[in-house]
Amino acid sequence: MADTSVKISARDVERHFGIDGKHRLHALGPFDLDVNEGEFVCIVGPSGCGKSTFLRILAGLLRPSNGSVELFTNAATETPVSMVFQDYSIYPWKTVERNVSFGLELRGVPKTKAVAQAHDWLERLGLADFARAYPDTLSGGMRQRVAIARALTVEPEILLMDEPFAALDAQLRQVMQDDLLEIWQSDAGRTVVFITHSLEEAIVLGDRVIVMSARPGTMVRSVDVPFPRPRTPELRAQSEFNDFKNELWDLLKSEVAHYMAEIRAGTGDTHAAVGPSPAEPED
Ligand SMILES: Nc1ncnc2c1ncn2[C@@H]1O[C@H](COP(=O)(O)OP(=O)(O)OP(=O)(O)O)[C@@H](O)[C@H]1O
Ligand SMILES: [Mg+2]
Repeated sequence: MADTSVKISARDVERHFGIDGKHRLHALGPFDLDVNEGEFVCIVGPSGCGKSTFLRILAGLLRPSNGSVELFTNAATETPVSMVFQDYSIYPWKTVERNVSFGLELRGVPKTKAVAQAHDWLERLGLADFARAYPDTLSGGMRQRVAIARALTVEPEILLMDEPFAALDAQLRQVMQDDLLEIWQSDAGRTVVFITHSLEEAIVLGDRVIVMSARPGTMVRSVDVPFPRPRTPELRAQSEFNDFKNELWDLLKSEVAHYMAEIRAGTGDTHAAVGPSPAEPED
């Protein structure tokens, strides 16, 4: 039996995609990852290495071609896993309040109770004044706050975040990182897997940073972030922060160079790294 503190256990996870019936793309793996309960793990890796594919497999949105994923969640939790994507993915025809309460309503929570619960998270994310607004009247940063509030309102045990701040400008991105840091630290116990291209983001937020290789993504290294919690945004100004960022960049840069060489050779994200196509599992 697995250690009880392990929340996510991924073993030999691989994913191939069929391309044109004859060829397949080896997108990911074999990839192994254990995430402990209450741990905040960040994943970095070159573009196209399979990060989103892995997260979608964890979320149960995609099946692995090989290997297995186990989530050790409480059977009584109604929404054990929720996910936040880069592109906000909120309903434009629902108000902010209803976007956030919707997940609870789907679970059968009566509307008034669901809306009241949603309001707690709207407050925490600075959205209380926008409860009756429609998403298209909000800035990108506010829309992403709505997506995060929606993911947290269902009180998931595991939160999966796929480059949630990538579309935001640098200042807003930093504000969002700081807010998420504060929320997560004051709300201990939630397990998070967070994908990012920003080493700074990974270090500010993560307990551990996983560096992945170029496609098909495998583990290059799992590195513990050496800064104690609770952390504050001032961490970024410490010279040790920069030193650690450089260490991670040393690990990552040859993988990024590998990715760039593929792009130059025309085999980058063109689905050309191919072999014979096996039977594809259905998604
Ligand atoms: N449904 C699909 N069908 C075919 N190929 C796919 C599919 N989904 C992803 N891929 C390919 O699999 C590889 C991994 O994609 P994935 O989106 O997981 O990468 P990523 O690491 O998240 O990249 P990025 O950093 O750019 O977001 C890429 O080459 C991508 O084009
Ligand atoms: Mg991705």
